[in-house]
Amino acid sequence: MKFLKLLIVLLTINVSAQQGGMWIPSLLEGMNEDEMTNLGSKLTAKDIYDVNNSSLKDAIGHFNGGCTSEVISDQGLILTNHHCGFSQIQSHSSLENDYLKDGFWAMNLEDELPNKGLYIEFIVSIEDVTSKVLAGVTETMSEKEKQSTIDKNSNAVQSATVKEDWQDTKVKSFYKGNQYFLFITERFEDIRLVGAPPTSIGKFGSDTDNWVFPRHTGDFSMFRIYADENNRPAKYSKNNKPYKPKHFLPISLDGIEEGDFTLVFGFPGRTNEYLPAVAIEHITKEFNPSNIAIREAALKVIDAGMKASDDVRIKYASKQARIANAWKKWIGENLGIEKSNAVAERRKFEAQFTEALKQKALTGKYGNILPEFDALYKDFSAVNIKRRNFIEVFIVTNELMQMTFRAYQLEAATEADEANFERAKKALVTRLKGIHKNYDVNIDKGVFEAVMPYYTKNVNALIYGETAFTNLDTALKLLEGKPKDVLKKLNKDAAYKYAKPMIEDYYTNIDSEFKQKNEVITALQTKYMTALMEVLPDERYFPDANSTLRVTYGQVKGYSPRDAVYYKPVSYLDGVIEKYVPGDYEFDVPKKLLDLYEAKDYGQYADANGKVPVCFLGTNHTTGGNSGSPAIDAHGNLIGLNFDRVWEGTMSDMNYDPEICRNIMVDARYVLFIVDKFAGATRLIDEMKLVHPKKK
Ligand code: ARG
Ligand code: GLU
Repeated sequence: MKFLKLLIVLLTINVSAQQGGMWIPSLLEGMNEDEMTNLGSKLTAKDIYDVNNSSLKDAIGHFNGGCTSEVISDQGLILTNHHCGFSQIQSHSSLENDYLKDGFWAMNLEDELPNKGLYIEFIVSIEDVTSKVLAGVTETMSEKEKQSTIDKNSNAVQSATVKEDWQDTKVKSFYKGNQYFLFITERFEDIRLVGAPPTSIGKFGSDTDNWVFPRHTGDFSMFRIYADENNRPAKYSKNNKPYKPKHFLPISLDGIEEGDFTLVFGFPGRTNEYLPAVAIEHITKEFNPSNIAIREAALKVIDAGMKASDDVRIKYASKQARIANAWKKWIGENLGIEKSNAVAERRKFEAQFTEALKQKALTGKYGNILPEFDALYKDFSAVNIKRRNFIEVFIVTNELMQMTFRAYQLEAATEADEANFERAKKALVTRLKGIHKNYDVNIDKGVFEAVMPYYTKNVNALIYGETAFTNLDTALKLLEGKPKDVLKKLNKDAAYKYAKPMIEDYYTNIDSEFKQKNEVITALQTKYMTALMEVLPDERYFPDANSTLRVTYGQVKGYSPRDAVYYKPVSYLDGVIEKYVPGDYEFDVPKKLLDLYEAKDYGQYADANGKVPVCFLGTNHTTGGNSGSPAIDAHGNLIGLNFDRVWEGTMSDMNYDPEICRNIMVDARYVLFIVDKFAGATRLIDEMKLVHPKKK
């Protein structure tokens, strides 16, 4: 009996240890398949990825390069996050048709709204091409020579690839350039908006709740892929038809409970799991804090403006969300690194690595790596911070500085060759129009006064009264005329005159020093990756995220963020009502939802206790880009939609720890409940395939 208990304890430890990692879908056979089975999956590696038959991967689309989406009907219906479709929803919105505020539901195909520039890309196949890409690369080559050989080889691999006309190829580096894969892809460009809940559901809790649990956000929106008469990718046309997918995800009505297997399938953007301790220290102690301070200063101004005016709220909604999102993430990342003792733990691991080097007589080959990292980061940290602060001020937060920065590029291009003028001017005009579409000069001036002191002692807000750039007409007027005259006028503009020396300093000193030092660190990181895999071959190595399709798996699970606090893994509609603050810009609840709650009118979407689940937690290792990724059950059905991580767990980009890293998903039943009962968009429910995998 005692032995049995011990065995069970050992088994559970073992199972929880086998989580974390973002795996390449074509390489799941073996270890990953076994780990998934241990966690309760009934799927085979081939169910997930198969080149010859349809498989789960055929339902997973890269949404506009930054998010993930999935096909949920045989008519190309697409599910992704509300925050992923946010700028499309915003661009169809106006004070009269405020889809951000009221939501949008196309009640038939004709009402679905086209979106310029939006695309969804699917993966047709993945192939290891490492030996071809690295052919001819030698140890003695300089980094530049190496890269140019790799580029040449990659191009050759792509031109030799047999594919259909409408398909594309790309070659991507994995394990820091230790492995290369070829992708054949299909990109659809006629993507129409089908539905979105009001922001009070889709972004319920807004910034206060962002990155935290308990969460009650219905962060979803729906689109539809349209294809030509042959079901192939095509530009927008009235004649296009709903896309018939190779695979779509059935949706489970049986929901989840703690311990259930979950698989998240999507396009994670970027992680840095193999950093040395000195890098983690630099990021959390120096780099993050300086960026946090700049964004905090900008947000104070923007938030106040948005609260005071509906016009400002609509104009700045998207921008504010972008600034606030990373700001809050960095704060959580720092907390998590601290809480998990990540720097000390990484040092311990490095001691183990150094010991293994000795035992394997590899100190001569790899022993200099860690000391070199220490020296390089010492030298790198100041310029890394300065460069990032420039980006935060001149590109992320202040719009007038951004306009001068873009104008500088026109001047630089024209100085290089006058023939560039028209093209560069066109690019600048597009930028200016984009900025002015959602511009408020008072907000921007406030932001300027708030952020500029973080970059320079020379803060002069008077330029706002003297520059042409704060008004689109005068800005465009300034760009009229012959190249020489335009540059002359430009150099007389007050804002341009103010910004230009700082921009020049950025290009000639800051950015070039950064690039030179960063290149050396990147090369050492490649060598470190090679060394790790050679010296400690029994560790579980997965390649850092690089915006390619990945599988991550785990279980539904709660967690303890602090002493004496435990978060249960599932939140309910009751929690929405608990948080409800009438009229509040973050916690208001639409009347219709209150009515449905009052009447307990939940249709088939309540759980066994008669409650509607809203969000749930899992141990899946996710990052930015996994937004909109499907959470899939043991049988391949959709159970939820990934949209966030818990605050302390955002450090998983550098240090995944199964104790506190959790991803947050919207429960599929909440999505269905909102579509059906709240929006009355039953035609969408009718085209989905709702299943009962647990009731057999
Ligand atoms: N934190 C999530 C992500 O990184 C959600 C962001 C959108 N939500 C928000 N309240 N800004 O994208
Ligand atoms: N919300 C993130 C995204 O847009 C996903 C959350 C995360 O970073 O894990 O991709």
